[in-house]
Order: sequence, then C-alpha cells, then structure tokens
Amino acid sequence: MGEAFPPGFLWGAATAAYQIEGSPLADGAGPSNWHRFAHTPGLVKGGDTGDVACDHYRRWREDVALMREIGLKAYRFSISWSRVMPEGTRLVNERGLDFYRRLVDELVEAGIAPMATLFHWDLPAALEDRGGWLNRDSADWFADYARVCVGALGGGVRLWATLNEPWVVTDGGYYHGVLAPGHRNAFEAPIAAHNLLRAHAAAVAAARSSGGANAIGIVVNLAPKHPASGSDADRDAARRGDAYMNRQYLDPIFLGRYPAELPEMYGDAWPRIPEADLDAIRAPVDFVGVNYYTRNVVRADAKARPDGARIVRQPGLHTEMKWEVYPDGLFECLTAVRERYGPVPLYVTENGAAFSDPKPDQGIVDDPLRVDYLREHIAAARRAISSGVDLRGYFVWSLLDNFEWSQGFSKRFGIVRVDYRTQRRTLKRSAVEYRRIIETNGASL
Ligand code: FCB
Repeated sequence: MGEAFPPGFLWGAATAAYQIEGSPLADGAGPSNWHRFAHTPGLVKGGDTGDVACDHYRRWREDVALMREIGLKAYRFSISWSRVMPEGTRLVNERGLDFYRRLVDELVEAGIAPMATLFHWDLPAALEDRGGWLNRDSADWFADYARVCVGALGGGVRLWATLNEPWVVTDGGYYHGVLAPGHRNAFEAPIAAHNLLRAHAAAVAAARSSGGANAIGIVVNLAPKHPASGSDADRDAARRGDAYMNRQYLDPIFLGRYPAELPEMYGDAWPRIPEADLDAIRAPVDFVGVNYYTRNVVRADAKARPDGARIVRQPGLHTEMKWEVYPDGLFECLTAVRERYGPVPLYVTENGAAFSDPKPDQGIVDDPLRVDYLREHIAAARRAISSGVDLRGYFVWSLLDNFEWSQGFSKRFGIVRVDYRTQRRTLKRSAVEYRRIIETNGASL
C-alpha cells in the first residue's frame, strides 16, 4: 500500500453543462453559442449536437446515484448561463435555476461537495450577438450572472470557478475558429482574452461582495512546453508557448501584468491595455484549478501561429485525442504554479483520457489504458503534494462519456460508459478502480 493523501482530500469527477445536459432550450432557456455552433453544418464531427447528449437534464438524479456508488466526495459541474438568463442579462429564468438548485440539494444530501463552474464555454447566443467576449460590457454581464448564481446556490456550493480554460476559449474560439464562436482573427483573440480576465475579476468581486460564496477561483489548462532540441530557436519557442498557454492568464491575476512574450508574438494585433484593468484583474483568488492532459514538445516554426511553437509528436502511448500520455507533466505543472505564484491552494479540476473502449461485457467496460492513466496521474499528484504543493482535490474528466465539443460523441472520456441510443450507463473498470482509490484515500495506489 502507498501513502495516503491528506485527510479531507476531495476526490471528484467533472462534467460541463453543454457536454452532458441535453434539452438546451427546455423550461425557458435561451440558446447558447454552442447550440448555434453545433447546429451549423460542418462544424462538429458527424453533425453531432448537445440536443440530447447524456440527457442529464432529466436523469440527474440517476447520475447523482452513480456518483454515490463510485464514492465521490465532490462533483464539478458547470452552469448553463442561458438557462439561468436566457438573454444573458437582466431577466432571470427561475425554472433554469431550479434545475441547479435541485442538483445541488441532491449532492449535498448525498454528502458530495458541489463545485460549480460559471462559464464552461457556452455563452448565451444573445450576448454573442452583442459581441460576446469582444465587448467590454461582458465583464458586467458576467458579474451580474455570477451574483444571480451565488445568490441562488451559494449556500450549498463548496467551490466556485469563474472560467474554465480561458486559453482554449480564445485560441480555439477566436484565433483558430475550431470552437464557438468560430472566429479566426488574430486581433480578436487577445481582446477576448483580456475581457475574459476582466470578467473573471468582476465575478470574483461580485461573489465576494454578495457574501455567499465559500471560495472562488479560476480553472486553467496547463501543459509543460518542452523544447524538441537544445537549439536556441526551440527553447525560445517553448518559452513563447509557455507564455501563451500557461502564463497568459495566471500572470495578470497573480503578478498584474501580461508575459512580455505576448505583445512580441501578436505584433500589431496586441491591444492597448489600460493599467486600471490590470489593477482590477490582479486580485486574490481562493484557489486555482488546473486541468492537465498532456505535455507539448515543441519546435520553432513561424507558421505555427501565434506562438511559433509547433508540437512534435513523440513516441509512446497517445490517447484518442492524439495527446501523449505523460504523467510527470502533472507534477511539473503543479510545482511550476507554486514556484511562480506562491502557495495558493490548488485542485486538479480535470484529468483523464479518451480511449476507444470495448462494449460492456457482463455489466462492466474494461478500460485498462484509462485505469493506468488515472493511477499514474494520481501518483504524480501525490508526488507534488510531497514536494510541498497545497493540492486539495482531484477531479477526473469525466464522470460520463459526453459531447466532446467539435469532436462530437466520437471521443469517450467517461469513467462511466453512456450508450447514447438507450442512455444506459455502465461503470467502466476505471470507475471501480477509482472507487478503491477514494475508499483508501489514495493508499491503494
Ligand atoms: C478540456 C475541457 C473539457 C473537455 C476536456 C477533454 O479542455 O475543459 O470540457 O472537453 O478538455
């Protein structure tokens, strides 16, 4: 038996609204930009949409029972902004809020700590029509929405996250156009990034002044950037890649400035940043959530915009996303955050793998690669704790197989299999293994 994790360590699983809920327009909800994106022919693999997904909007009770069966101590979900505020601002749709009220009550009743993400990529379409994250008013919209959510659910929610992976929103949504809203515009990406940070800070302030939020932080995706060779060019590429993905959001929050590499790599597309914005963005958070999947080995390549760092495929095991399996990278990210920003409480808010699973056999799905992936990454998290990182929880991505954004349903990340035809849920071996890890507080690793 290995060493146990600290007492009270939060073992959880994570999901996001548009990826699992289905019924996107039910009970007075407005459409989101993801609803629109998925319904635009050619943008999502196989023409898949979140119209039904895991039907969690109707099966949430059954899903909480599954969480209980796995022994989860925490559950991270996201709130659909356009369910709660169909127009994005002003009007509150109580029936949308009720869905989350019931979910939070059920979780608390089951002894599972709720963690709510306010924005996991689905922006109300009505706000997209007003410029979305390019509009400076987005910070006020988001703060109002945060106030509504914290006011309605604050008592039960243990941890609030403002944004999920703002880097992916801007790189995928505004620079490369592969995610909603599907723009390809170098000038827009840093503006959207900056407004996301302003919105984050405004939501933290709103949640704090309402007094109802136990703890509030942000979730970022991190990946170590390793140079493919010892050449200066490759090292510089790795440094730019690190600034772009890993420091673009945390430096302003903790240090009050953007990494110097960003204006260099954006050139004319870099906007003028008012000092007062940076002052507002630099505000303490109660925790940082780290989503970790892989590392990137990079080579200098001016065509790989905007950071000039092209990812070089490595030998060895990769997931169905073509992401290298590299558990040490989790250790590296967690320790890097501590070193650069100080002793802030951390959570691994997502970690997991898509592999092509076999069909259920005698009531179980055998997924040995995912079992190994989780074990090795959890072991890396434990090493980070031993070296002084204040890591307080770990959330598997994902509880359920779900709608993997532009990949549709083709990628399965769940520790629970979902048969999309029947909506039947079947535990995978990884869920059983995870239950054992939770029961022993990690000592079974
Ligand atoms: C992350 C997202 C999450 C899921 C995983 C695989 O970037 O936060 O919704 O798609 O990747």
